[in-house]
Formats: sequence, structure tokens, C-alpha cells
Amino acid sequence: MTSTQISTDQLTLTLNGSLRRIADLPPTTTLLEYLRQSGHVGTKEGCGDGDCGACTVAILGKDAQGQPQYQAVNSCLIPIGAVAGREVMTAEGIGNGQRPNGQLHPVQAAMMETGGSQCGYCTPGFIMSLFAAYYDGSLSDDICIEGNLCRCTGYLPIRKAAQRLVEASASLAATPEATLDDRFSADLAHKILDLPALSYTHSQQQFYRPTELSEALHLLQQHPDATLVAGATDLGLEMSWHRQHYPVLISLEAIQALQQIEQTDAAVELGAALPLSQIETRLRGVFPSLDEMLHWFAARQVRNRATIGGNIGTASPIGDLPPVLLALDASVKLVSATGERELLLADFFKGYRQTELKSGEIIYSVTIPKVITPGTAERLSQSYKIGKRGTDDISIVAAAFTVDLDAEQKILHARLGYGGVAATPIRAVAVEDMLVGQTWSLDTVRSVKPALQEIFKPLSDLRGSAAYRKLLVANLFEKFFVEMSAS
Ligand SMILES: Cc1cc2nc3c(=O)[nH]c(=O)nc-3n(C[C@H](O)[C@H](O)[C@H](O)COP(=O)(O)OP(=O)(O)OC[C@H]3O[C@@H](n4cnc5c(N)ncnc54)[C@H](O)[C@@H]3O)c2cc1C
Ligand code: FES
Ligand code: FES
Repeated sequence: MTSTQISTDQLTLTLNGSLRRIADLPPTTTLLEYLRQSGHVGTKEGCGDGDCGACTVAILGKDAQGQPQYQAVNSCLIPIGAVAGREVMTAEGIGNGQRPNGQLHPVQAAMMETGGSQCGYCTPGFIMSLFAAYYDGSLSDDICIEGNLCRCTGYLPIRKAAQRLVEASASLAATPEATLDDRFSADLAHKILDLPALSYTHSQQQFYRPTELSEALHLLQQHPDATLVAGATDLGLEMSWHRQHYPVLISLEAIQALQQIEQTDAAVELGAALPLSQIETRLRGVFPSLDEMLHWFAARQVRNRATIGGNIGTASPIGDLPPVLLALDASVKLVSATGERELLLADFFKGYRQTELKSGEIIYSVTIPKVITPGTAERLSQSYKIGKRGTDDISIVAAAFTVDLDAEQKILHARLGYGGVAATPIRAVAVEDMLVGQTWSLDTVRSVKPALQEIFKPLSDLRGSAAYRKLLVANLFEKFFVEMSAS
């Protein structure tokens, strides 16, 4: 253990304003399990894998400016070790007993007035999504409840509740007096956000949360087989569903160096432990294809936790960001106690769930170049995700394209990145080569479609047949042409 690592036989967290000490649970117990075991049964379990939102709670995190902000998250995916030192709010904490004169919280009142709850099973989850959005001003869109499912009420009354809250939420942001009247927003200003270092052991599972990169690298040297954990939206599933035992977990979420965004004229470097919701807000407008894919990525509760490093580190063939990053020629920086190296993302994926990452290494950052091919008059870039439903679904095929054109519409540079069609996220390199030098036209696009249909050997599964995937590989490129021509 390193010098600044706090070793403790208990975890503490603040739940609905009260400090709780936990000494009798493995660090991989999910927050949901802890809540329900400790009598906070307002938070419900539906799916246990991040898909339904019944377990939504709000945790205190940082907004794009680094200020305190309530964030909706799925408690079924968060290991209890990850909420040590954090503030957690559940539906019980914002309700009757907690408000002066037994008032309902405005989000609860709105749901009641619009008839937004029938059986009530999903309601605490919706309430907590609305609660977080009420304070961060994102109620005006439906994205705040995209990760919550309701089986009986129907969404109209719930959306009406959200709309009813928009004005109150906006006046809260605009008027300091309103802020003082509301204890949750008044409280926000005084919150301390930096997570403390931690080393907690239970049931032969050690959970480390270093605050310095050097400590994390040192711990990795000591424990070469340790598992790195960032947002736990992938690993949390192993804990929640498969009761996976992790002898040593090293959490990356308290390391500030992994949360930076460095932007120059030449490139953007994104810290690997940046949650996707941060990238969504802080980088909006810089890379349109990234904006588009983030919009369709999971739902808000997941994006508040999921990181870019985790999306690459998991090396899933259906990860949605790798196709976008491949089409933008992104590179990854890997660090270890002995040095660092940078390689193109295209060279990072080695095989099914296999990467170039060696024992002792951490993904430090992802760099996306902004410099485009010399002579380019126009850059076309977009991404597409085909799933069974709009948001909160796994891709059948994801694709991202970048094409640089000169003033005569000649193709100077082409990148076609795909997910869901091979053992790894992959580029259609042979077709990229065929395109360079040709004129950007429907004829050109159609002339490479047969090659695109044959370039990959996708599998058939429950989501889609191999034949369907092959068609998508080719047709999405034509869609790209048509859309770019229309814009
Ligand atoms: C409901 C739900 C919906 C989802 N929807 C989508 C979707 O639409 N698109 C999609 O692509 N994915 C989706 N996912 C999967 C998941 O959210 C993403 O893969 C996410 O980016 C993982 O990031 P994380 O920080 O949570 O990773 P974690 O679960 O913390 O880690 C994942 C893996 O990466 C490794 N890792 C993490 N950080 C690093 C690092 N810095 N260096 C080295 N290794 C590291 C870990 O050791 C682990 O093996 C979804 C998941 C859920 C539960
Ligand atoms: S229980 Fe369904 S998202 Fe957590
Ligand atoms: S009110 Fe019954 S599931 Fe939503």
C-alpha cells in the first residue's frame, strides 16, 4: 500500500443527509443491494443490469464546470466501494418527512398531479431521474427519463410531469432567492466533491481507490492481476448478475489526471476516466459524429458513469465509441510504472475481447486529431447506430465515416469504422483505399457497396442475421452519402 492510501475496515457514505458506516459488506456489493438490505426499499430492483431505471438514485458528482451536481445513476451497477465518501439521495430522502411542513418535493408533486404513477414500481426511479434533471436544468428534453421504463402508466403523464417542472427548474437556476428556499440547491454550494483515497477489504476482496496516477500504477505493479474499474457499467453487471469475485479491484474514478480534457488546434486529448456525460457537454460541436453516437449511447444514468477508457478497455466488438474513434484516426496513450506509449486505436484491438494493454498498464487518454488532410475543402463525418430501439439499446451494427474532399469533390482521405461485424471494432481498410482518388458521388459509393458487403464475416445472433449485418455495412455508407448531400 502506498503512503497516501487510506486503509480502512469500514466504508462511509452519506445517505439522504446521514453518515452511514459499512463494515460488513464486500466492496462488490451493489449500492442497490445495500440500500434494500438497510431498509431503503423505496429504491426498486427491476432488471439488475442497468436497463430499466427502477433502481435510479442520485449521487453527487461534478458538472462540466467542476461544480457540484446531482446525477442520476443506476444503483444496481455501482459497487458499494465506489460510493465510499459520496453523497447518495434516494426517493425516501426527498419526500415528506424530509421537507418542511411535510411537503412533497416539486418533482413528486408534479408526478402526483399529472397521474404519472399507477402501480408505482417504477416511480421512485422516475422521481430520482427527474430530481437530478430538476437541479441541472435538463428537464426540457426527454433525455432525463430515457433510462426509465414504465410498464403500466404510459409515458404521457410522466412527460407532462417533466414539462410542468421546467419553469420551476429554470427559475431555480435564475433566482438566488428561489435557490435559498430549496434546501437541496442551497446545500449544493457547500458540498465537497473530491473523493478520498481508499483501501477496503472484505471477504478476500480488496478495493483500492487511489487519488494519484502514480499510486494506481504502483498498486498495479504490486497486484499484476488486479482488475481496473472506472464507471463499472460493464463490470457492475458481473457483480450484480454473476456475483463475480474480484480479489483486487483498483478504482480509477478519484484520479484527476484521468479526468482532463486538453484541447489544442491540433487535437483533443480525453482522459480515460471521463464519464461520457462530461464528454457530451464539454466537447459538443467539435466532432459531429461523436455527438451523434453519444446521443444514442445507453441512457443518461449509464452515461453519467460510463467512461471512454472503459468503452475501449472492455474491447467489446459492439462498443459504440470505437467505430467513431477509428473513423477519426484516434490514438490511445497507455501508461505504466515504467513509461508510456501511444498507439493508433486501430492497432489497439487484437482479437475478441483482446487488446494491446499489457499487465501493469492503464489506458491514460484517447487523442482525436483535429488536423485534416492538406488540400481538404470539406470534411464529411457522421455516425450511425442500428439497434432494436432508439436509446438504451445495444447496437446490431454501428458505423462511422469520415471523408475529406478537395475543391473538385475528389476524395483525399476516407475512414470507415464499424462495430458489430467482426471480433473487434474494425475499419474497412480495403474499401477506404478504393475510395481515395475517386470523385465523391452516388456512383462511386454504389461501386464500392459490393466490396463492403463482402469485407466482413459477421455472425448471426438474436439481434440480427449475418446477411442483415452485411447489408447494413454497405447501406449505411450510402445513407451517409445521401444525408451529407442533403445537408
Ligand atoms: C444499460 C447499459 C447500456 C449500455 N449501452 C451501451 C451502448 O449503448 N453502447 C456501448 O458501447 N456500451 C454500452 N454499455 C456498456 C458500457 O456502458 C460501456 O462499455 C462503458 O463505456 C464502460 O465504461 P465503464 O467506465 O463503466 O467501464 P468499467 O465497467 O469500469 O470497465 C470496463 C472494462 O474496461 C477496463 N477499464 C476501464 N477503464 C480502464 C482504463 N482506464 N484502462 C484500462 N482498462 C480500463 C476494466 O478493467 C474493464 O475490463 C451499456 C451498459 C449498460 C449497463
Ligand atoms: S434494476 Fe433495472 S436499471 Fe437497475
Ligand atoms: S407505474 Fe407501474 S411500472 Fe410504472
